Amino acid sequence: MLMAADELNRLRAKLPVNKIIHGDCVKVLNLLPKGSIDLVVTSPPYNVGKEYEEDLTEEEYVKFLTDVFKGLKRVLKPDGRICWNVPYSMISSKREIFSPWYCSFKALRKAGLKFRDNITWNQLNTDNDTAWGSWCSASAPWVRHMTEAIIVAYKETWKKQNKGETDLTRDEFLRFVLDLWGMPVASKKKIGHPAPFPEELPYRCIKLFSFVGDVVLDPFLGSGTTALVAVKTERRFIGIELKKEYCEMAARRIEPYLYQKKLIEFQ
Ligand SMILES: C[S@@+](CC[C@H](N)C(=O)[O-])C[C@H]1O[C@@H](n2cnc3c(N)ncnc32)[C@H](O)[C@@H]1O
Repeated sequence: MLMAADELNRLRAKLPVNKIIHGDCVKVLNLLPKGSIDLVVTSPPYNVGKEYEEDLTEEEYVKFLTDVFKGLKRVLKPDGRICWNVPYSMISSKREIFSPWYCSFKALRKAGLKFRDNITWNQLNTDNDTAWGSWCSASAPWVRHMTEAIIVAYKETWKKQNKGETDLTRDEFLRFVLDLWGMPVASKKKIGHPAPFPEELPYRCIKLFSFVGDVVLDPFLGSGTTALVAVKTERRFIGIELKKEYCEMAARRIEPYLYQKKLIEFQ
């Protein structure tokens, strides 16, 4: 299931479905076939000093995100969609307020992608920020962040061009079209990654915005949550991840479900 980016270079025109590609997504996106992806569900590095992040200036961060969005635009189908999870604002390692949402929005526009909507994730059990600023005083209190955004964007046309199979229940539809999603955060310790999102996040994005059998891409795969949910919901996935150890972690999480699916197919 694991592939090195060099290996992909040899295949070029072939779409590597149900594969995890080890490499830098800006480079790897250029090696994937144009117009081949139905849906992107991802959470990029936030540039707030996590262990896998470089310390970029705001300008450098917007440039990085713009390069990623340009790559995504290239590989998306004309009716392809993006669900992009970032915090509205966060305290950086330099103890400054930083807005990954603002930088993402700017980059999305620069890359020529279309903004569709914004969903707010109410993180019911968050442990993101611990700073109070001035305790019980109006002197300089810090706002503590309990929400993140899911920016919904698309390439050219919002309406799907082909008919497909929807597997949303009526109840799911009514809940998922609301722009406030209450979902507890995933346990970093249990999963072994510093910033995994809960399975419920890609589940809602995949069910609401893609058909059964569609190709779902996560260019910042991390522990593999998007790919895992794509398999569980009968979609195909492509995952890209810079760190080998996270690629291996993702493969370990996904493999049992892929194997199970194969057994069912052969019955
Ligand atoms: C916010 S985490 C994603 C977590 C993921 N949603 C999950 O549930 O585990 C971002 C991931 O992007 C990876 N990453 C950072 N820069 C990258 C790049 N240029 N190309 C591919 N992956 C990158 C990091 O190693 C990290 O695992």
